[in-house]
Amino acid sequence: MESLSNRVTSVTPSLTLSVTNQAKALRAAGEEIYGLAGGEPDCDTPDFIKQAAYTALAEGKTKYTPAAGIPELREALSTKLKTQNNVDYNPSQICVTSGAKQACFNAILAVVEEGDEVIIPSPYWVSYPEMVKLAGGVPVMVETKESNKWKITAEEFEDAMSPRTKMIVLNTPGNPTGSVYSREDIERIVEVASYEDIIILADEIYEHLVYGDEKHVSVASVNEDAYNLTITVNGFSKSHSMTGWRVGYTAAPEAIAKALSTIQGHTSSNATSFAQYGALAALTDEASAPFIDNLRGEYDVRRQFMLARLKAIPNVSVVEPKGAFYFFVNCTGLGLKSVNLCDKLLTRYKVAAVPGVAFGHDMGVRISYCTTLDVLNEGIGRFEEFCRSH
Ligand SMILES: Cc1ncc(COP(=O)(O)O)c(C=O)c1O
Repeated sequence: MESLSNRVTSVTPSLTLSVTNQAKALRAAGEEIYGLAGGEPDCDTPDFIKQAAYTALAEGKTKYTPAAGIPELREALSTKLKTQNNVDYNPSQICVTSGAKQACFNAILAVVEEGDEVIIPSPYWVSYPEMVKLAGGVPVMVETKESNKWKITAEEFEDAMSPRTKMIVLNTPGNPTGSVYSREDIERIVEVASYEDIIILADEIYEHLVYGDEKHVSVASVNEDAYNLTITVNGFSKSHSMTGWRVGYTAAPEAIAKALSTIQGHTSSNATSFAQYGALAALTDEASAPFIDNLRGEYDVRRQFMLARLKAIPNVSVVEPKGAFYFFVNCTGLGLKSVNLCDKLLTRYKVAAVPGVAFGHDMGVRISYCTTLDVLNEGIGRFEEFCRSH
């Protein structure tokens, strides 16, 4: 359509949403669908968080807040980042956003100029390339190797660099692969980034969902270069099952932080006032840690169940995901492109999964385990049947 901007016509609508809609339509028509496509915890937001938001509403905390968020929340985030992530950010360096998604977008808008390149390791979370395009930048996708657990190496990063490179996106733990970058991985990447002062967008939204011996390492925490180059993005959606609340945040060096707050102030003004009080409870209430431990424990059981089942399926391969709540299944051996594969899987076997092309890998599918063991059992059984018949 002629009246639309080039900016928006260059952007692809979200494929994850289209799968969800197709599955919804089949459900509405009375079909039983086994949903392995979800991207959010399957439990409700804990009551202590809801209660804090009810109280805020009852107390009339219903007006605009400062653009960067209520002072108590920024203070609590500063403490959290120091004690849990080992990074020293003052409250003034923190900007509360409407979800981690807006946090990523603010970060990209703040530093990417028309024509600047942003390196995105692939498979990637669907929205990064589209956000870069909306900001006038050029996404440069770098294919990662299954043999390196779907993580970009410092060498691959260096090879992809050009004089226009402005930013690299590091998502750890990652969606859709569940890969977790170690301290050494991060240090090597930071070293390359520091040659040309390339900004690192560190999306750590899945930080609390890390399993086994693996530990989450915050990118900004590894050394001074990392701190100076990193915009940390995080939020409450996955750790506290608060996807609908829309609360996330950025933390960054002072000069970038100011720009991030300016963008926030001129776009959504502020994250919803009473939702910010809910987020404050998520950080300060003593019920928070047991809630997260429980969630992680439950997801680890499902992860191990799915790993064992997936490993027994012929013609597909899988890397053990150490974080988040997804498996990225390499289906190259089935010889079907991902949309075709997911379409057949949904219409014939009633299993919803997300085609890998949404994440930049057209021979894979993303299967999430944020659903009950019963649904996982039935869904993976059907997926196996599908794979064996191809
Ligand atoms: C890697 C990644 N970053 C950011 C987000 C967005 O999170 P939020 O719901 O807080 O906007 C998601 C949500 O799926 C995600 O997977």
